[in-house]
Amino acid sequence: MKELRDRQSAGAGPAPLAGPVAGGAMYGMIHQAARDFALSRLGPEQWEGLLETGGLSGRQFIGVEYYSDEETMRIVSLIGDRLGLDMTETFRQLGGAWVDFAGASTYGRVLQMAGDDLETFLSNLDRMHASIKSNMPKAALPGFEVVSSGGDAIRVQYRSERRGLAPFVQGILASVAQRFGETLDVSYVETEGGALFTLARRRAAA
Ligand code: HEM
Repeated sequence: MKELRDRQSAGAGPAPLAGPVAGGAMYGMIHQAARDFALSRLGPEQWEGLLETGGLSGRQFIGVEYYSDEETMRIVSLIGDRLGLDMTETFRQLGGAWVDFAGASTYGRVLQMAGDDLETFLSNLDRMHASIKSNMPKAALPGFEVVSSGGDAIRVQYRSERRGLAPFVQGILASVAQRFGETLDVSYVETEGGALFTLARRRAAA
């Protein structure tokens, strides 16, 4: 188990963070995805303006560098402000964009290798994340466990050292399902240290 105090973060320190995320820091891949999302939805001028508003003018996000969770929250919140979306919806939509972003990154193959169907993919999520750990040794990665499947629903337990990312996961899971040609209703209830997700299959009317 990774100790939070091992993790370096610019400015976050050991004190609790103001935002709902209580991790420490995150690799810039997430920020790059947020930047791409903002660029496609808002365009470059608004992206620059948004960085300026956040006191982050000229900030480059580098995939293998580490940025405080506070900064992540600030960026997502600023994007949401400009799109007229609350934090939950912004994270959900960002989650929706994440799979395409990760698929187009150097980790595209990792994503491809994780499984040929939804259930296999979901049960391989931890292995998939573990395989990137050698490149990103400080990552505090999430945990996913398929707790039940079959019938019309798959239930997945998500665990994290951070709080507030369940909507992000919701968006990712919905778009992962789409990758496998399934349209699912993805809902969750928050649990201690994470959330329990239900992916419900929509049945065509008989
Ligand atoms: C090739 C595909 C993927 C790559 C390369 C990747 C990589 C990463 C990286 C680098 C982080 C940041 C960890 C840190 O800096 O502490 C992260 C976090 C995260 N990833 Fe992935 N990921 C991938 C796919 C997925 C998928 C399919 C899911 C499905 C739900 C997922 C869920 C998450 C979540 C929820 C977090 C936030 C960490 C937390 O909850 O504490 N990722 N991932």
